[in-house]
Amino acid sequence: MVEGVPSAHRHQPEVEPVPFIDLVAQHATIETEIQEAVQRVFASQAFVLGDEVAEFECDLAEYCDSRDAIGVASGTDALILSLRAADVGPGDEVITSPFTFFATGGAIHQVGAKPVFVDIEPHSFNLDTEQVETAMTERTRAVMPVHLFGQCAEMEPLWRIAVRNGLSIIEDACQAIGGEYRGRRAGVLGTMGCFSFFPTKNLGGAGDGGLITTDDAELSARLRRLRMHGDVGGYRHVEVGTNSRLDALQAAVLGVKFRHLEQWTEARQQNARRYGELLRHYELLDAVEPPFVLPDRRHVYNQYCLRVKAGRRDEVLASLREDKIGAAIYYPTPLHLQECFAFLGYQQGDFPESEAAADEVLALPIFPELTAEQQETVVRGIATALGRLTSDNDHSHIPAPKFLTAEKKKRAA
Ligand SMILES: Cc1ncc(COP(=O)(O)O)c(C=O)c1O
Repeated sequence: MVEGVPSAHRHQPEVEPVPFIDLVAQHATIETEIQEAVQRVFASQAFVLGDEVAEFECDLAEYCDSRDAIGVASGTDALILSLRAADVGPGDEVITSPFTFFATGGAIHQVGAKPVFVDIEPHSFNLDTEQVETAMTERTRAVMPVHLFGQCAEMEPLWRIAVRNGLSIIEDACQAIGGEYRGRRAGVLGTMGCFSFFPTKNLGGAGDGGLITTDDAELSARLRRLRMHGDVGGYRHVEVGTNSRLDALQAAVLGVKFRHLEQWTEARQQNARRYGELLRHYELLDAVEPPFVLPDRRHVYNQYCLRVKAGRRDEVLASLREDKIGAAIYYPTPLHLQECFAFLGYQQGDFPESEAAADEVLALPIFPELTAEQQETVVRGIATALGRLTSDNDHSHIPAPKFLTAEKKKRAA
């Protein structure tokens, strides 16, 4: 039971469940292509790197407009290996956002460096670049902006800061494949760009996978050897790396899905526009704030995250769940308040915008195959949870034509 909400408003009458994401629906549209690609790999029995990976790397480099792309085992590894290639290690500091998936801060810690957080801009949920310089010390080696939910961070001021101070910029573009900042793609907005092919990403594999983009030939050579235990060929190891390669099977599956990426991205954008219209139609814009798209960005909506105002987010989420409407919180706890980072010494209140976002965000289904009807069910679910479904905006009860109403009245008289 949700406190303070009249029971008549708590739930929609029986509605079809809406999944948060439906990978089965997507797979159905490409099943034959995927099977052919998988069979090709099995026929070759070449499972590690090889032509499949090389071809996919070329496709991605071209798509991001980068000189090279290096396939690795996950987005997390992409971040770790980029940090290592930028010579970030013990004693160094890396500035990043606390409002992100854990891997961003986890990767910095994994290379022995210290994550230093700065707060986010409330509208874009991305790193507030104006705060970066005040967080810098003589140990700062890199900045790791996160293009959260699929919208790029404000990069130009970061470029200036990086050039002035000799810092590397490692983009956490794990959620932003195809996202753009002033006409340039995510992945070429810093020194290196890191992508994830986790199955729920806009370009998702059949398991884990990741990739790094860079324009720097030296870095790309180093990344290629770091993913192979530092091997430069002939079992000669010039530095200690790790085993982090993109599987040929993943590359084959991703190669198929890549051909559909733009169309899927456009479907996500169309869904976002439709949510905007529905939220206006149901007069919810005083209670929830849709994602804010900055004019010089291309948002690719890996997530569509609303802000639910007036402390009602959890109530809305609970009501949607009872109505079997998929929704999720990305992310409920900012990194500076995570238990494992207590040793960093941050406290509640240190990053008020990140903390407010963690209390207010609510991700709605946005997957490309989502239908207009399903979206209406979601928005009606929110209106219901907030007690806002009125006879004026409730289109499920299509009003009877006037002449019928008059006829009924006559009969009743
Ligand atoms: C912002 C962000 N950074 C890093 C990662 C890590 O990627 P992966 O799960 O492929 O290791 C993810 C994806 O889960 C992410 O969303």
